[in-house]
Amino acid sequence: MKNTISKHTAGVGRTMIGTIRTDVLAYTAGKDVKLDMCLVDADCIGSAAHVTMLAGLPLKPHLFSARDRDRVIAELARIMRRADRGAFTITLQDQDVHLAVERELTSRLGALGRKIHTGRSRNDQVAVDLRLFAKEQLLAVIEEALALGSALLIQARRNRGVAMVGRTHLQPAMPSSVGLWASAYTEDLLDDIRLLKGVYDLNDQCPLGSAAGYGVPLPLDRRQVSDLLGFRRPIHNVLHAGNSRGKLESGILSALSQVMITLSRLSEDLMLFMMPEFDYFSLSPDMCTGSSIMPQKNNPDVLELVRARTARVMACNQTVMDIIKGLPSGYNRDLQETKEPFMLGMTMTRASLRIMASLVAGLKINREALRRGFTPAVFAADHALSLVARGMPFRDAYHYVKKHLDELDDLDPDRAIALKTHAGATAGLDFAGMARQLAAERASAENEKRRYFKTISRLLRIPYPM
Ligand code: ARG
Repeated sequence: MKNTISKHTAGVGRTMIGTIRTDVLAYTAGKDVKLDMCLVDADCIGSAAHVTMLAGLPLKPHLFSARDRDRVIAELARIMRRADRGAFTITLQDQDVHLAVERELTSRLGALGRKIHTGRSRNDQVAVDLRLFAKEQLLAVIEEALALGSALLIQARRNRGVAMVGRTHLQPAMPSSVGLWASAYTEDLLDDIRLLKGVYDLNDQCPLGSAAGYGVPLPLDRRQVSDLLGFRRPIHNVLHAGNSRGKLESGILSALSQVMITLSRLSEDLMLFMMPEFDYFSLSPDMCTGSSIMPQKNNPDVLELVRARTARVMACNQTVMDIIKGLPSGYNRDLQETKEPFMLGMTMTRASLRIMASLVAGLKINREALRRGFTPAVFAADHALSLVARGMPFRDAYHYVKKHLDELDDLDPDRAIALKTHAGATAGLDFAGMARQLAAERASAENEKRRYFKTISRLLRIPYPM
């Protein structure tokens, strides 16, 4: 077998910041060369804010004139366009996006490029890049969670009167409905969105200007860069700005894990209830996959993979927590390794939300099979409560029904679900209220996105996103 390491064992790489052994470069850059391609826009946007702030500093001579600033920003926008076309690359000598952008600025603008790193470090650059990345991603996750929540609500409203056996311990428990089952997941997702908004808020603070984590002897205007980038406020303590890396990612991954847990439970229900033995629901055939040997197969691979990817998103969070738990304060290169699980967890969650929204929209509800699931025993508790209504103490009614289970009659599932009229029960579901909550969350996410894109477009002087 060829030694794949050998090509890195000889030679040195000339980087922007000196010469490094090629094998050391390859080992330390790791996957940054590839992963940082997702951060090109964010890095250019962060640099545009930084140069704008530097150009405004009351220094003699000025670090950047207004014209210099405009040239740098125009060049940053050009880099973003090139990256969009696939024409911008991060080389091993660059190590990461930050030095790749600086190299590009320097090759096009000479001294202006060589000045761009004044008063900052890659540590606060990567911190701001990841927060800008997270901002856009989280808004997209919220929108995708809302789309799934809406698909579930549509099914719930359409099938509000379709009786379904409610289960505890997987055993038949009490009469329920498809409306109750499906809209429970809508509310689950609304809770998840509350968590996502919580971490959005945590993320919405600007670390830029912390430099290597200890500030710089220049009168940086950290409030200005924060405003230019559309953050709610700068992170105050410059050391904390760096130390928050990893913890932020873990917080976000933890909220994403909650979303995935919702999807995993939904998947589990669907897989169970689509078994021929139940046949309550059927997936649209185009959501199923076949077998290479068994011609009859229509397998729920999508649902199985949602369940497995839930484990993987949770593991991404665990990886990040394991990496950061033993780190001392200040930047440590270990932090670089939190980037991959962070991006992976985000990608997997978003893809899972999107596929589940199509799957739920195409779900077929088999009314007759659902009705066949009702056995007399399902009505036992309701019957005991009807005896209570006639004056019997509950415990007496309970024992009476338990002793006469074989005598249960009045077994109409439709009537049973119509009788539960209190808030949140089968006949008391506030579908309109849920729809209003979804609409309010959608409006707030869209509003935030519009506001953010407007701020960045103003900074770059071109419409963003391109
Ligand atoms: N790629 C690095 C990371 O993700 C950027 C920061 C490098 N800083 C340093 N001091 N080596 O952490």
